[in-house]
Amino acid sequence: MKKVKKAIFPVAGLGTRFLPATKAIPKELLPVVDQPVINYAIEEAREAGIEKFIFIVSRGKSAIQDYFDHAPELEQVLELRDKRDALQVLRCTEIYAGDAIFVRQPRPLGLGHAIWCARNLIQDEPFAVLLPDDIVQGERACMAQLIEAYDSLGGSVIAVQQVPKERTSRYGILDPGERKNPLIEVKGLIEKPAPGRAPSDLAVIGRYILDPTVFDYLDLEIEGARGEIQITDAINNSIGKAAVHGFLFEGTRYDCGDKLGFLKANIVFGLKHSELGPGLKAFLKTIDLEG
Ligand code: UTP
Repeated sequence: MKKVKKAIFPVAGLGTRFLPATKAIPKELLPVVDQPVINYAIEEAREAGIEKFIFIVSRGKSAIQDYFDHAPELEQVLELRDKRDALQVLRCTEIYAGDAIFVRQPRPLGLGHAIWCARNLIQDEPFAVLLPDDIVQGERACMAQLIEAYDSLGGSVIAVQQVPKERTSRYGILDPGERKNPLIEVKGLIEKPAPGRAPSDLAVIGRYILDPTVFDYLDLEIEGARGEIQITDAINNSIGKAAVHGFLFEGTRYDCGDKLGFLKANIVFGLKHSELGPGLKAFLKTIDLEG
């Protein structure tokens, strides 16, 4: 079985929920405490052994490319001022030459279409997809958990979590078959079903290992929910050609594509931060929550 070594990071969405903040700054570069949102997904992928980082970008997202690049002028100033800690932080943001690949999605036709844009780079290999909006925190990287499951199962393995029944219309939802926790056989997937139509409360989050057969269905460019080309539909159509399993990962997911989720992540990560945590905790205690 081929190993998962490439990951796709789709970052070509418009980020309309964060306007006006995202008018000139990609939402993936908004900071959660002292790191841009996208850094958390990169670190997770590195921990899982990913070697090639494929970013699906669009107009207005070139700052993401700069973020992962070498910054010689800034390094020179920091060296002159002997700011070693800052230099070290800066160097950690770089992706080794040749390991970061940027592919343009010309129109925001949906997540499925964004992934399809990387088809020539993936060819017939299994690959990971990480949506940077989702920050997943736990003892073990969520992607490492998925890869471990994939190594014994093959096919597609997608991270799922239980959601309140009234929120199914925000997610891709599993029609579950046989269940051997943490693994759940997937009989079908439905994108954004209304609560009454949802076959379960098991929602797909932004972490996937995908079998390359999904490209056969993405090639067809079928529009799904919201008039977009949905990856959920392509995975659903691939069932039968490749096994598809849901995986109940260990960890907590913060949806940073949503303002409230973003604020929660900042508070939780701020409280955990070794330098900032104590001060933030003391400050939060002084706030009059009723006022
Ligand atoms: P979302 O729909 O959650 O993000 O897409 P968005 O479109 O950027 O944000 P809003 O809803 O307007 O605020 C989920 C993921 O898919 C990527 C997004 O960048 C995000 O990582 N995406 C979405 C693309 O890369 N291309 C698309 O055409 C659509």
